[in-house]
Parts: sequence; structure tokens; C-alpha cells
Amino acid sequence: ARAEQPEGRAFAPVNIALCKYWGKREEELNLPQCSSLSISLGPLGTETVVRRADAGATEDRVELNGACVDASTPFARRLCAFLDLFRPDPGARFEVSTKNNVPTAAGLASSASGFAALTLALDRLFGWKLAGPPLSQLARLGSGSAARSVYDGFVLWHAGRDPGGADCLAERLPEVWPELRVGILTVCAEAKETGSTGGMNRTAATSVLFREWAERCRVDLQLLRDAIRAGDFTRFGATAEANAMSMHATMLDARPPLLYWRAETVAALHGVRELRDAGTEVYATIDAGPNVKLLFRERDEAGVRGRFPDMDVIAPFRQPRNDSCSPR
Ligand code: PMV
Repeated sequence: ARAEQPEGRAFAPVNIALCKYWGKREEELNLPQCSSLSISLGPLGTETVVRRADAGATEDRVELNGACVDASTPFARRLCAFLDLFRPDPGARFEVSTKNNVPTAAGLASSASGFAALTLALDRLFGWKLAGPPLSQLARLGSGSAARSVYDGFVLWHAGRDPGGADCLAERLPEVWPELRVGILTVCAEAKETGSTGGMNRTAATSVLFREWAERCRVDLQLLRDAIRAGDFTRFGATAEANAMSMHATMLDARPPLLYWRAETVAALHGVRELRDAGTEVYATIDAGPNVKLLFRERDEAGVRGRFPDMDVIAPFRQPRNDSCSPR
């Protein structure tokens, strides 16, 4: 039985893709061309509370990190467009309060954790009690990568084949790697110039390399799944790093080219390679921005920090939030 609650409250983690999502086969439903695989970053993410506004309210009320957000801002418009999918009657309005504990300067996509947290909060408000896969499908409608943020741990987002997205959903993988660490290197805190949808569409429409990208992802995804299952960190890190480089190659091949890197991004990549040559096993991955995320194991944390003293470190399997709302 569905029982609407006075409010719905939920937390969802940010996630970092190891096999990237870059390219949509359908834009309205955020259906990706390829499946992708990510790791959720435990305690970093978004907490959201949603309520029904009083009858008579003409607009949704949106609060971000304690401050009211004007309805005309892109942030509020995107959020309200997502809420349009869930209004019990066309006049119903919501009050949404959302807090990111991700330092906004950290260059981590808070849209993934944001739409996942809002979806989980709506599930509680309306008493749907949906399982993870359907929740991932709803979160996907807000932002593609949000499909992966409804879970902790390693997450696989299946592209599926159905034109309506019926089989386009995410699942949590059972493997747990307590020694895994993710380092976040914020080399530049400025907002990115080209958003992910625009960047993907430009790449898909103009890059010749992009034609091979789907096959790359198919192979890399299998390598990553095998590596995770086998506990093979070397194969895991090397594949994740190479996959990110391939994605950026397709971006550079777009016309006009998409260059998300700064000088500091390239310097960090060289630093990672030098550390590796000197015996510290660390790998890098980069999304649609200049910041670099590092993958290494607990035993190498001091070595990595010696080279990157300013990095933030997350232990994805060691710092679960005790109030985590992720479905299992
Ligand atoms: O979910 P979006 O539309 O913000 O796209 C995310 C794209 C990348 O971060 C570059 C890759 C990924 O899989 O997260």
C-alpha cells in the first residue's frame, strides 16, 4: 500500500565512472549508447528533503545548501522539470531542500548525487518503496549518471536496448574492496565551459574516433568486471585510466574540439606516471572537466600523498554513512 508521508528525506553518494558514459542514444530519456561502471564515493554526496507545498503555492520552492534558489536559475529549472514527472496533479507544488557535502569546488558532479537523492526522497514521500533498479531508471531521467548514484559501491549501468528504456537500469555489483582509495585532485574550481549533454552530442556528431568508442567501452567494461571479480587492482586501474584517456581522445577529436584539461591536469597525469614508474601503484581518471581522480590502495596512500599533498581521500567501502538511504 502506498502511504504518503509528511516528507521524504534521503542521501545519495557522488560516483566516479571507471568505464565512462559518453554518448546518448536518446536525449529525452537519457538513454546511453553504452553501459558504464562506477564507484560511489561513500560519504560524499547530497542529502535532500522533499515535501508537498501548501495548496495555493504557485511555484516549487528550492533551497540549496540553506539558501533559497531563484526559480529562473538553470539549477531550479532543471530540478522543477524533473519534479514535473511526479506531480500528483498538475497544480501540485513541492518544497525541496538539498545539501551537498561535496565541496562545490571539488569538481565532482553533484548532479548525479542530487537527482539520485531527490528520487530516493520522492520514493519515501510517496511511500512507493521501489527497489534499486526502478529507482535508478527514475534518477536517470534527471541526469544520466544519477542512475549509478542510487547505490553505494561498484555500480553497473546497463545501456539496454529498449527504445523506451525499460532495460536501461543500474545494479550494484556484489564485490567489496575495502583497501580501495579514491583521491580527488582539484586543479581548477571553475565551472566547466561545455556541459556534458552538449559535449556528448558534439562529440557524437563530429568525432571520427567516436565511431570506435562503443567497441572500446564494451571491451573495457568486460576487463573491469573481470578485474573487480578477481581483485586485480593493476588491471582495474590500468583499464580505468586508459578508458578515460580514450574518452578524452574522442572529445579532442570533436569539431570544434573539446579540451577540458588545464596545464595542471597534464602535470598531474605525469605525476601519476612517475609515481607508478617508481613503484607506487596509482592510476588516474578524468571526467568532463579539468580535475583528476586518483585510484590507489590503502598501502600506497602515504606515497601518493607525498606527491599530491592537497588531495582529498575517500575510502568508498570504509566510510559508509550510517544514515545512508541507498537501496541494497
Ligand atoms: O550524467 P551526465 O550527463 O552529467 O554525464 C556524465 C559524463 C561523465 O561524467 C564525463 C562520465 C560518466 O560516466 O560519469
